Amino acid sequence: MERDITSLPTKRVAVVTGGNKGIGLEVCRQLAADGITVVLTARDETRGVEAAEKLSGMGLSSVVFHQLEVNNAAVGGMEYVQGVDTNKEQVVNNEDLRKELDDVDNLTEERLDEVLDSFLKDFEAGALEAHGWPTAFAAYKTAKVAMNAYTRILARRHPELRVNCAHPGYVKTDMTIDSGFLTPEEGGRNVVTVALLPDGGPTGAFFAEGKEASFLG
Ligand SMILES: NC(=O)c1ccc[n+]([C@@H]2O[C@H](COP(=O)([O-])OP(=O)(O)OC[C@H]3O[C@@H](n4cnc5c(N)ncnc54)[C@H](OP(=O)(O)O)[C@@H]3O)[C@@H](O)[C@H]2O)c1
Repeated sequence: MERDITSLPTKRVAVVTGGNKGIGLEVCRQLAADGITVVLTARDETRGVEAAEKLSGMGLSSVVFHQLEVNNAAVGGMEYVQGVDTNKEQVVNNEDLRKELDDVDNLTEERLDEVLDSFLKDFEAGALEAHGWPTAFAAYKTAKVAMNAYTRILARRHPELRVNCAHPGYVKTDMTIDSGFLTPEEGGRNVVTVALLPDGGPTGAFFAEGKEASFLG
């Protein structure tokens, strides 16, 4: 069951996607421990409620659950932005496209949509390698590059906000079949550090393991 956010004690609010496990759950725990009201979202209600209850059981009462499938960009009148995961790998072999994605002053959301549409077409046609896309973990890498670019588009459009993205490091979670070098606590800390940057701090930036870094490798 979802709780009413207005009943919560703190006014500073964080919305975390994929909050039911892995890095997302740890980010929720650390933010709540810092006194922030956390909207822990998960696509599966049962898993999400269980995670929120686990945090409550640890004495972190400022956590509310909200069901969210990230493919739905706007839910219940609120805008959600997933901005806690990215990857610095050199993922686009097409040099012109790399330059274009790096040229944030001229890059638009429409152009980014076109790039992703062409990726999907090439994926379906089996033409990834021929057109300079990554071939291993192709969708994952392309999604991260797109999110990096979108971070900068949003930051430019909303100078009043801080819009950044963060690579947590290689973390032991289900996604990496526990093969990472960092614990979820360490990876989560790399994300929380960025989320809690002070007002007036960097925007449109990429952070690798807590430190500002260049976007495309
Ligand atoms: N682990 C690493 O080394 C590493 C490195 C770089 C970046 N990242 C990024 O960090 C993020 C978290 O990864 P993780 O390692 O913590 O993986 P994880 O333990 O597998 O957790 C992934 C989370 O994302 C949720 N999710 C997946 N698809 C979703 C959707 N369509 N809508 C809403 N939620 C969805 C999952 O929900 P369900 O439980 O319902 O599946 C789960 O809560 C990912 O974006 C990943 O790419 C991780």
